[in-house]
Amino acid sequence: MSAASWQVGPCDALQGSVRVPGDKSVSHRVMLLGAIGSAPLEAEGFLRSEDCLATRRAVEMLGAVVADLPGGVVRVTPPERLASPAAALDFGNSGTGIRLMMGLLAGRQVAAVLSGDESLRRRPMERVARPLRDMGAQIETSGGFPPVTLSPGGRLAALDFAMPVASAQVKSAVLLAGLSAAGRTVVRQPAVTRDHTERMLAALGCRVERGDWGAAVHGPCRPCGGRVVVPGDFSSAAFFIVAGLLAAGDAPLELAGVGLNPTRTGLLDILRLMGGRIELLDEREACGEPVADLRVWRSELKGIDVPPELVPLAIDEFPVLFVAAALAEGVTRVRGAEELRVKESDRIGVMARALQATNVRVTEHPDGLDVRGGRLGSGTVDSAGDHRVAMAFAVGAARAEGPIRINDVANVATSYPGFAADAARLGLPIEAVPPGRAA
Ligand code: S3P
Repeated sequence: MSAASWQVGPCDALQGSVRVPGDKSVSHRVMLLGAIGSAPLEAEGFLRSEDCLATRRAVEMLGAVVADLPGGVVRVTPPERLASPAAALDFGNSGTGIRLMMGLLAGRQVAAVLSGDESLRRRPMERVARPLRDMGAQIETSGGFPPVTLSPGGRLAALDFAMPVASAQVKSAVLLAGLSAAGRTVVRQPAVTRDHTERMLAALGCRVERGDWGAAVHGPCRPCGGRVVVPGDFSSAAFFIVAGLLAAGDAPLELAGVGLNPTRTGLLDILRLMGGRIELLDEREACGEPVADLRVWRSELKGIDVPPELVPLAIDEFPVLFVAAALAEGVTRVRGAEELRVKESDRIGVMARALQATNVRVTEHPDGLDVRGGRLGSGTVDSAGDHRVAMAFAVGAARAEGPIRINDVANVATSYPGFAADAARLGLPIEAVPPGRAA
């Protein structure tokens, strides 16, 4: 269901089970590492969302051949060497796609222009371009933003880089550039960030060191091919985890095959501190990534001060956490989350305005938000084209005082194209409102 707006909830109870789609971060990396491998790379569970399909089209324009095999498997066959694309590479809404591609292309003698949609053209790119230039890349941004232009240049030198921001995209871009530099490229991180790039590089035969301090890669290295399994996306599961805590019936909501990489699961810790009951079953591993099934019980949530060390580990989950906080008892305070202002939208400002539009009392800070819990009113919210804002209000609407109309929801397809259908199957009243129909 893709529409300009949704009208959602409330309802008595949600029930049933969902298998969330493949992990977006891992799916981008399948395309990128597959395109520079020494043999084809196959992936089970690749996420066919707009963001990952943009990265797929980009690697195809660079000379990789991507085939859809039976059973939802994709196969990426790398070219002998990447070619300069005939047109600009369009990453749509995807910061991960463009930033990781900047690193991948940096040392590869390719001329390319990288750009994206209106939201992406407002997102900072110098944080990636700067260290790549220090390695010797010829790379220009447009006043700090896309379009980004890469030109063929000399060989890259390995770098020892202390990242000023806790960003997995910056870390990954420098590590990917390090694959075409001779020697040890090191990225030191100010706080733990997601480590999918390091895990996949190690699984594909590159020499990688990693720890809470950051990661290093020994170049040059061409990843080998093979087969990987993409786990279910924790960030997509997050919406149904909160839905279950707020509105499960007597039985828990069940989520199957959810990726539980410890650099991604800060929301589980935060929700448990708030009193949420979430059980992990059948904990297992799929291609170097931990996976489990989840059971989520309806719980009385209480407001907390979110521990700052959990912020980077829950960085994509704040829209839904703020909605959970609105329906908790007491105040929830988040600080140290200034990175939220440069995501697909300014997730502090957009969430503050949307919560106010549903009668929630909030106080905005430069690096966070205080949310006074107790109620989520009926109203109309503007998602500002941000997929995670739209899905956060959809699950919150289950427990709202009346229906919530959510505008500008088409970008949900960037990460979770089947969200509305999955939510409806669990019993959430969610209706597409045709463009133009008044609230
Ligand atoms: C991502 C890293 C995160 C996250 C984004 C995906 C990745 O950004 O917000 O959705 O796949 O590396 P940071 O660069 O802030 O860590």
